[in-house]
Amino acid sequence: MDLLQQIKANAKKHQKRIVLPEGLEERTLKAADEVLNEELAQIILIGNRDKIFDLAKQFGLKSIEKATIVDPLKHEKKDHYIDMMVELRKSKGLTREEAAKLIENPLYLATLMIKNGDADGEVAGAMNATGDVLRPAFQYVKTLPGISVVSGAFIIILKDKEFGEDGMFVFADCAVHPNPTERELAEIAVATAKTTRAIAGFEPRVAMLSFSTKGSAKHEMCDKVINATRIAKEMDPSLKIDGELQADAAIIPSIGKSKAPGSEIAGKANVLVFPTLETGNIAYKLVQRLAHAEAIGPVLQGMAAPINDLSRGCSVSDIVNLIAITANQAAGK
Ligand code: ACO
Repeated sequence: MDLLQQIKANAKKHQKRIVLPEGLEERTLKAADEVLNEELAQIILIGNRDKIFDLAKQFGLKSIEKATIVDPLKHEKKDHYIDMMVELRKSKGLTREEAAKLIENPLYLATLMIKNGDADGEVAGAMNATGDVLRPAFQYVKTLPGISVVSGAFIIILKDKEFGEDGMFVFADCAVHPNPTERELAEIAVATAKTTRAIAGFEPRVAMLSFSTKGSAKHEMCDKVINATRIAKEMDPSLKIDGELQADAAIIPSIGKSKAPGSEIAGKANVLVFPTLETGNIAYKLVQRLAHAEAIGPVLQGMAAPINDLSRGCSVSDIVNLIAITANQAAGK
């Protein structure tokens, strides 16, 4: 069984409730139909019931009738969610009128459903930008205890099995936090190790990447990575992690040995933590395109409940896969 088949089989076992706020979007509806048909998860679609069924008929979708449908304009918990929003954002001065307007936005409604225990996870982003999907999640679902920053990991599956974990790597942060501090970078490393165990299914060996290996260059950007490595070790003393390492020293055994002798990670890393979002986002896209690698994600990590953001260029199968991953995160919570 390959990794995606394992992820789907595990999702099927747990039958988590995944809310899809973009319930009127064609690829999302088709993905929901496939998930329900394959019984990978329970699906909650946000949108007008008549419009959803009209579209389902138009696209020839037979399983949508098994979804729970929540109309963002009128549903029984609307007032309760408005009360919750006002309470949760009272320090920010959110008024009832503002909350009443926001709750009609499906992206806000989905996060309030999760916060209230009415859904286990969310997948969105087929028609909304990353920031619009993440902002309500940051504001209402918030981060896990001990973690202040949400980040995004990609599971990279290479055709060449020589490097990493039989050709598999986890890269982060490739999706969310533009310029982490050293403490935030440490949190990203710890969160990525957890995602690696929970979703990729192997034991992480984490390389904290830089343009320097073990002091070969001196710069405040290298110091940030060195300090982040130390903080990550303090946060999780059992974590196998080393840095600062250049990419070649991290993944190529002979270079790891010569540039970082004695390191238990150099040359053997299967998790790559990038110093900034720029480097992580560029790196995963280059590997995906130039090495024809499969890039599964972004898997958002550090959030108190699983909420995942799609690329607007996603396919139906990308959405199905991300729903299965979200269900796995919810099951492992
Ligand atoms: N983790 C946790 N909370 C966060 C984070 C984070 N990474 N970033 C912001 N927040 C919180 C803030 O603390 C704030 O909370 P508060 O309202 O309770 O005080 C709230 O979110 C809003 O904060 P802002 O600083 O106003 O954040 P903003 O909404 O401007 O930006 C965003 C957040 C949209 C995620 C921004 O960091 C961003 O645009 N990141 C890049 C996303 C992106 O474009 N990625 C590349 C594409 S994805 C891909 O290619 C796969």
